[in-house]
Amino acid sequence: MPTLETTVDGLKLPNPFIIASGPPGTNGNVMAKAYDEGWGAVICKTISLDAGKIHNVQPRYARLRARRSDEIIGWENIELISDRPFNVWIDELKATKDRYADRALIASIMEEYRKDAWVEIVERCEAAGVDGFELNFSCPHGLPERKMGSAMGENPEILQEVAGWVKAVASRPVWAKLTPNVTYIEEPARGAFRAGCEGVSAINTIRSVLGVNLETLRPEPAVEGYTTAGGYSSRAVLPIALRMVMEIATVIRDEFPGRTLSGVGGIETGEDAAQFLLLGADTVQVCTGVMKYGYGLIHPLCDALLKFMDRHGFERLEDFRGHSLQYFTTHSDLVRRQREARAAARAGAQRMIQRDEQWSGDDFVEQSDALARG
Ligand SMILES: Cc1cc2nc3c(=O)[nH]c(=O)nc-3n(C[C@H](O)[C@H](O)[C@H](O)COP(=O)(O)O)c2cc1C
Repeated sequence: MPTLETTVDGLKLPNPFIIASGPPGTNGNVMAKAYDEGWGAVICKTISLDAGKIHNVQPRYARLRARRSDEIIGWENIELISDRPFNVWIDELKATKDRYADRALIASIMEEYRKDAWVEIVERCEAAGVDGFELNFSCPHGLPERKMGSAMGENPEILQEVAGWVKAVASRPVWAKLTPNVTYIEEPARGAFRAGCEGVSAINTIRSVLGVNLETLRPEPAVEGYTTAGGYSSRAVLPIALRMVMEIATVIRDEFPGRTLSGVGGIETGEDAAQFLLLGADTVQVCTGVMKYGYGLIHPLCDALLKFMDRHGFERLEDFRGHSLQYFTTHSDLVRRQREARAAARAGAQRMIQRDEQWSGDDFVEQSDALARG
């Protein structure tokens, strides 16, 4: 009987499915709901020391539907990090840890480019009992105007410096959450690992404009008739997240063995999750999927992943983690492999006896064998 239990950076998880930072982990009530339903761990909505600077707008979501059905396939948000006061958060983190002592609670944190602020937020969250940190270097809208979020994550040197401040004081595992809005995600990943981070999470949302309303001629989501570029998530981003997870997992395999990777972006089924794990993710995170289907999504996620493992005879996640990475190569190597395969097929076809006059004395045994193989 396969098991989904796994231990990542010392955190014991009943399954690899983690609530990603966002609305599904936005206060103590919803975090409790996630644990009660059976999620492997929770990463809270990103918190900062001064929520007074966080001003959200409405509407702040816009959704893309498939052309031939009502299914939501893409989701843009212009939501900021948590607007709830830090002291309230500290009380709720403490209360959540008191109630769910054996379940992993990870604090997603973001601060300005000031060492004292990062040190303070880490120390106060640790005192509240959190099990680990995810550094939000990746929110692509609003916060970059204050040089926070993806403004830091787009710059591997700054990311490494800030992650280094955190690593110097944190006694719990630290993951850096990376932005996909860069050409080569390997570089910020290396920055995080050089700073000593145990792991990285990828991806946060992709900068997007969801669409323009053809009646009002205004882009969406329209706030008093105006908008700003937002962050794209949900099913539509899965292939981009898979590609980035593959690239980071390759860096881990070749340069930083033992570091960990949490895959996120468009995961809604156990089969989606299996693909992230096959490409080297240790855990997977879900945000928009919970907003579409609710916390009960954890049950079909676990069932389908277990079924996949059973079908292949895998007992544990470690049995197939990263298995499919070996099948990536360069395009020129694909050309070489195809040329060789076709040449071998041609040689085989030539050797195959079509008419009796083709029998030759030299490779008589091979020719007989080829006829037996068909
Ligand atoms: C409405 C919304 C709010 C989000 N807020 C945060 C946040 O506060 N911190 C963060 O690190 N990521 C945030 N995210 C990003 C998600 O955690 C996740 O990285 C991204 O949405 C891709 O995963 P998904 O397709 O499962 O949603 C948010 C996403 C959405 C849709």
